[in-house]
Amino acid sequence: MNNKPKCVGVLTAGGDSPGLNAALRGLGKTAMGVYGMQVIGFRDGFRGLMENRTVHLEDATLSGILTTGGTILGTSRDKPNRMPIGGKLMDMTDVMVDTYHKHLLDVLVCMGGGGTQKNAFLLAKKGLNIITLPKTIDNDVAMTDVTFGFDTALGIATDAIDRLHSTAHSHHRIIIVEVMGHNAGWLALGAGIAGGADVILIPEIPYQVEIIAEAIRKRSREGKNFSIVAVSEGAMSCEEYRIRKALEEKLAAAGSKSAKKEIESKLQELETQRTGHAFVLAQQLEMMTNLEARVTILGYLQRGGTPSAADRLLATRLGTAAVELIQQGVSGVMLAVRGDRVEPIPLEEVVGKRKLVPLDHPWVQSARNVGVCLGD
Ligand code: F6P
Repeated sequence: MNNKPKCVGVLTAGGDSPGLNAALRGLGKTAMGVYGMQVIGFRDGFRGLMENRTVHLEDATLSGILTTGGTILGTSRDKPNRMPIGGKLMDMTDVMVDTYHKHLLDVLVCMGGGGTQKNAFLLAKKGLNIITLPKTIDNDVAMTDVTFGFDTALGIATDAIDRLHSTAHSHHRIIIVEVMGHNAGWLALGAGIAGGADVILIPEIPYQVEIIAEAIRKRSREGKNFSIVAVSEGAMSCEEYRIRKALEEKLAAAGSKSAKKEIESKLQELETQRTGHAFVLAQQLEMMTNLEARVTILGYLQRGGTPSAADRLLATRLGTAAVELIQQGVSGVMLAVRGDRVEPIPLEEVVGKRKLVPLDHPWVQSARNVGVCLGD
């Protein structure tokens, strides 16, 4: 029997997310303190793995980080198979495989969102032992009930909506608050409900401006001369949705590389036009309601700072549970949250999927029941 202590590599990739340090601490302390494993951190996600930039993790490195935001390892959005190098995109997967072997790693733990699951799977397909943990403020990773980082961001966005209420009320204004979430509406919907927004717009439910305007006018008629509109950064009007869907269908059917490229550039153009879409909505609503409108974009505030208690707890559970899997020799999986348990899910069942808000989700129903306008 091989009694050599295992050697664990770890990296954090994609957008930073509150709870990453708690997960690194949970993983490191359990691996080293309970099982005597060695733990090597790689800086800045997959780029650090490629460039072999390491941090030797020890107890002292992991002390005092439970409550801190960001990630002590640093992160990046670089992908193994499309790494920008000298102005070109290069496939550097094999170089990462070499780094893994150079350090005699038994396993590499990758903490990240949907993109990281996909990137980690590329390495698993090259024969590396990979375990992933689901983190993102967007809560859109498939096959897990929740991701760490979401609860903190939800709290920050809710607090912001709370604060915007008194100023909207005092000035009889519409305040449009743009919430992150990429193409998923979890954050805007959750914070909108918790913060008592009057209108919530999410990517899963394309909106009609006239319907929003009428909901705001109705509130005015009832003597409520202000409204809070929580809009997800990925929300879009019905018209925009139709154009996008048509382009996506065309892309799926396109035969030649050049046809694909042309459609992709049109989709990219649409994406660029979206910058500032909250301001366009504000102008439209001002004209249609006779109320002044203001925009607040929460942006990176939602990702920064101290993780909530729920995220610290979740990240610690996932970090420590990952070590139990390593000890059992399990790999090729993401550790998912299922009810009150954490379970390993094969990576191939996770990658290429995104967990969007189902239209019949209880949060959607609750929002409608309390009179929130969802723009449809
Ligand atoms: O995935 C987390 C997230 O904050 C999304 O909500 C947002 O769309 C994106 O990252 C922003 O990405 P970046 O940090 O690359 O600007």
